[in-house]
Amino acid sequence: MKTDTPVTIRRSDYAPPTFLVDTVELDFDLDAASTTVRAKLALRRNPAAAADAPLHLDGDGLTLVQAKLDGVVLPPERLAFAGDGSLTIAGLLDVAVLETVVRIAPETNTSLSGLYTSGGNFYTQCEAEGFRRITFFPDRPDVMSRYTVTITADRARVPVLLSNGNPDGAGDAGEGRHRARWVDPHPKPSYLFALVAGDLVAVSDRFTTRSGRDVALNIWVRRGDEDRCGHAMDSLKRSMTWDEDIYGLEYDLDVFNIAAVSDFNMGAMENKGLNVFNTKYVLASQESATDGDWQGIETVIAHEYFHNWTGNRVTCRDWFQLSLKEGLTVFRDQEFSADMGSRAVKRIRDVRGLRAAQFPEDAGPMAHPVRPDSYIEIDNFYTPTVYQKGAEVVRLIHTRIGATAFRRGMDLYTARNDNQAVTIEDFVTAMQDASGIDLSAFYGWYDQAGTPELTASDSYDPATRRFTLTLRQQTPPTPGQPDKHPVPIPVAMGLLGPDGAPQATRLAGENAAQPGTRTLLLEGTEQSFVFEDVPAPPVPSLLRGFSAPVRLRGVTRDRLRFLAVHDTDPFVRWESGLQYAASVMLEMVAAQQRGEPLGFDAALAEAVANTLAAAGDDPAFAAEALSLPGEGFLADQMEIADPVAIHAVRQHLRAEIGRRCRPALRATYDALAETGPYRIDGTAIGRRALRNTCLAYLTAAGDGPLAKAQFDTATNMTDSLAALSLLADTDGAARDKALATFHARWRGDDLVLDKWFSIQAMAARPDAIAAVRALYTHPDFDLRNPNRARSLIGAFASGNPSQFHDLSGEGYRFLADAVIALDPINGSIAARLVGPLGQWRRQAAARGTLMRRELQRVLDTPNLSKGTFEKVSKALL
Ligand code: TRP
Ligand code: ZN
Repeated sequence: MKTDTPVTIRRSDYAPPTFLVDTVELDFDLDAASTTVRAKLALRRNPAAAADAPLHLDGDGLTLVQAKLDGVVLPPERLAFAGDGSLTIAGLLDVAVLETVVRIAPETNTSLSGLYTSGGNFYTQCEAEGFRRITFFPDRPDVMSRYTVTITADRARVPVLLSNGNPDGAGDAGEGRHRARWVDPHPKPSYLFALVAGDLVAVSDRFTTRSGRDVALNIWVRRGDEDRCGHAMDSLKRSMTWDEDIYGLEYDLDVFNIAAVSDFNMGAMENKGLNVFNTKYVLASQESATDGDWQGIETVIAHEYFHNWTGNRVTCRDWFQLSLKEGLTVFRDQEFSADMGSRAVKRIRDVRGLRAAQFPEDAGPMAHPVRPDSYIEIDNFYTPTVYQKGAEVVRLIHTRIGATAFRRGMDLYTARNDNQAVTIEDFVTAMQDASGIDLSAFYGWYDQAGTPELTASDSYDPATRRFTLTLRQQTPPTPGQPDKHPVPIPVAMGLLGPDGAPQATRLAGENAAQPGTRTLLLEGTEQSFVFEDVPAPPVPSLLRGFSAPVRLRGVTRDRLRFLAVHDTDPFVRWESGLQYAASVMLEMVAAQQRGEPLGFDAALAEAVANTLAAAGDDPAFAAEALSLPGEGFLADQMEIADPVAIHAVRQHLRAEIGRRCRPALRATYDALAETGPYRIDGTAIGRRALRNTCLAYLTAAGDGPLAKAQFDTATNMTDSLAALSLLADTDGAARDKALATFHARWRGDDLVLDKWFSIQAMAARPDAIAAVRALYTHPDFDLRNPNRARSLIGAFASGNPSQFHDLSGEGYRFLADAVIALDPINGSIAARLVGPLGQWRRQAAARGTLMRRELQRVLDTPNLSKGTFEKVSKALL
């Protein structure tokens, strides 16, 4: 974990492994204080490596008890240990058997990487480089092996023993201990190894694949959590069916186990046949889970299940190819969720997420391509760029070649690369071969960082009835990549007549007009498209469905208003309303900075009134359309952000809209009151979303008692939390009472208590920093639990910009203090949390100086983890 001079790993340095491992036998003697791990590796010299190359085994924090080569104990002089804990052994024959015995201490492992304990149970997390914390091994994804695992443990305390693959016998081990054996018939890289053991109970079901394999499904949780697994199980079965229906991909083992754990670094992990999940993405009940939580569970369950083919059967050659599995699997889970609910609303939410997290990353010090060129700590590259932008790039290819060719490409990709560790080229080549379309230019999307800016200009000639649309692209420089090339940008578009009616289009050179949406491909820096037979000057609707992850610039306000009302594409309608509001708000921010009055654009109230009038058709869409651009989104539009002014403008606008539209907002709020039983389908979720959006405007307009009444009478977490978060921004007794009531009601439920911390961390009140510091010492706060650390520290630094950026610098100081305290406990989470300080270049000098000072203080901390070192040192460059 700690190094003096962190080494940079480069993609161009890839070299194949010197030895392959055909089979692995692992034997765990589980004990929280000292676990013994015996490993037997069947080694074979890689034909691709030099004949005398030594064997290199990664290791991290292992106590070696013994090593035997071909049955003979290796003397110390044959074992060359390096400073990072790895082990090199020279002089092997081409075929060899290595047996090692090591000791590890799961109960003191706070990094949650490798084998660790949580609530007295045992769990592993091996991606990306955690397996080396369990045993000596070539811990790299291009070494794929067949695993047999035996686990021995105390029968009373550790009744359940799980690993990858299928169960293969269990029995007594004497002295109150028992044993279980697992065999995984599929070769896999070490990062997919998993072991879960402890006092757990299963919620079970079955699934029959379409070729007739009967699969046992189990979700393993702590006693008492059994009644909150139904939604996760339903989501799993729907995912299994969807992957068969859409891609013809079936499950390939007799059991599929999911284990839920409350101490977990990320969302979930796709270990072969034994997924390990953060409890946040498994457990849900009406009382305790918000609609967002229900949707998150469906998405993450699907995501991990889909990895079985995109990630596990076909895996990555090296970690630079991470988006090969993550971008593709996010694309697959997005499409799954779109098919399960409203496609338009899902797309809006995904784009919102991309802009909130990935666009700022692409414009900041950690900007990197979807396929990075180098890293110090691979953990730092599980990013919105690799995941979300990676999914957008897969979507670009899908758009370019069409759904049918894409499906053929997936068939080809899985057939050609099954049981292999491959690269992004293997994916693109399969798509190219299946479609017959040259996709070589799309590598630009994988290899170039930064968000392209797309500008459109047009002209209409009434004499020739020609409409000329000119598209231009430009990508700003990013660290290490000063010069950018054009990338292929599919622009899905249509034309609207002056009356708002959609028009057929015919490009010069085409024989027939095309109705509806068509896709133009911008390949160079600038290109003009000439449309014929256009009867009157049209309004172009561009980037329908957000057909490329770019920033579209220069659409006039008049056109935005027009498109928001008339376009046929729901994404463009939403987007145009959003961009209109953003443009108005940015102007107000400038006014605020000049000390001028803020004013109000009546068109915004008009748009709200129109949306409310039509909301009955699609409440979920209406809720999206009524949500003002977020503070982060606005900050990202500014060269130098002004978080305090942005917050003031947004509050002002919310109150003003609330006042002007009060009767309509109130009528919608009342009409949407839940009468029947609680449901979590798209319509019910949409109704709650819209109703709570109305509540937010009404509260901003001064209707305080309404939120209190909703909080007091809510029968589900969505409504309760929506009301509480509004109350949390207010002053007075009702606020304190509501927070105290909520805490008393939920103090036994960690996932809900996380929400209680977050709401207070995000409350935009002048005492926010003091409140956050107080919560940091609250008896329920636990820095070691990643969910809890994120719920306070992350929620404050990322979710409360106007207070985090307080000019006193106290917000920055709090974050740096927390990161310094957390780094020795869990460097991976510390490195993630430090991110917001890295955005100092986008803040005014007074703030930037304070932010840099805190970054420097973190950097000066002795024994910093390499992940935090990388983030902080790159931010200071
Ligand atoms: N592969 C996981 C996913 O996206 C991500 C993951 C889970 C992870 N745990 C991790 C990545 C720990 C790095 C470290 O589905
Ligand atoms: Zn994933």
